[in-house]
Amino acid sequence: MTNIAIFASGSGSNAENLARHFEKHPKARITLMVSDRKDAFVFERMRNHHIPSNYIRREEFENGTLLKLLKDQKIDMIVLAGFLKLVPEAIINAYPGKIINIHPALLPKFGGKGMYGKHVHDAVVKAGESKTGITIHYVNNNFDEGEIIAQFETTIIPGDTADTVASKIHELEMKWFPVIVERLL
Ligand code: GRF
Repeated sequence: MTNIAIFASGSGSNAENLARHFEKHPKARITLMVSDRKDAFVFERMRNHHIPSNYIRREEFENGTLLKLLKDQKIDMIVLAGFLKLVPEAIINAYPGKIINIHPALLPKFGGKGMYGKHVHDAVVKAGESKTGITIHYVNNNFDEGEIIAQFETTIIPGDTADTVASKIHELEMKWFPVIVERLL
């Protein structure tokens, strides 16, 4: 059994989708959720799925507390789902090739610091792109720069706004993220 930890900072719709997908899976379980935001809605979603969740303070990311928690819980793989903090180097080194992220655009375009949530969709629409999509990639020491695992596209049509693009992206995320995580087990 692969024990998966999710790192999340926000609403947690991807975290919940993963929790649901792996609830009775023969090979993997979501056994932990870690958040850097005490009041994030993801806590409520995880409670509904009985997934142990921990708020981790800024200093605890760096001082070994988080790494110890991951080791104590025998975590094998880390999935970032709307996680806004850079993963500390010690954790990246402890989990080589075992940390993945989902980004709501077609990297390498529209990535990097500050490119998250609605900022991404705003930038995509403003740039007059004819398509956008999601990127699932390995995590390294820079935001959104790790090796790409999979990308899925959707078209942008005249009249689309950041909001309509966001809902197209949401659909792709719900459909594909669990499938790709499963493929990596
Ligand atoms: C998703 O669009 C994800 O791709 C991005 O942040 C958003 C998180 O949404 N990195 P949620 O918290 O999973 O609802």
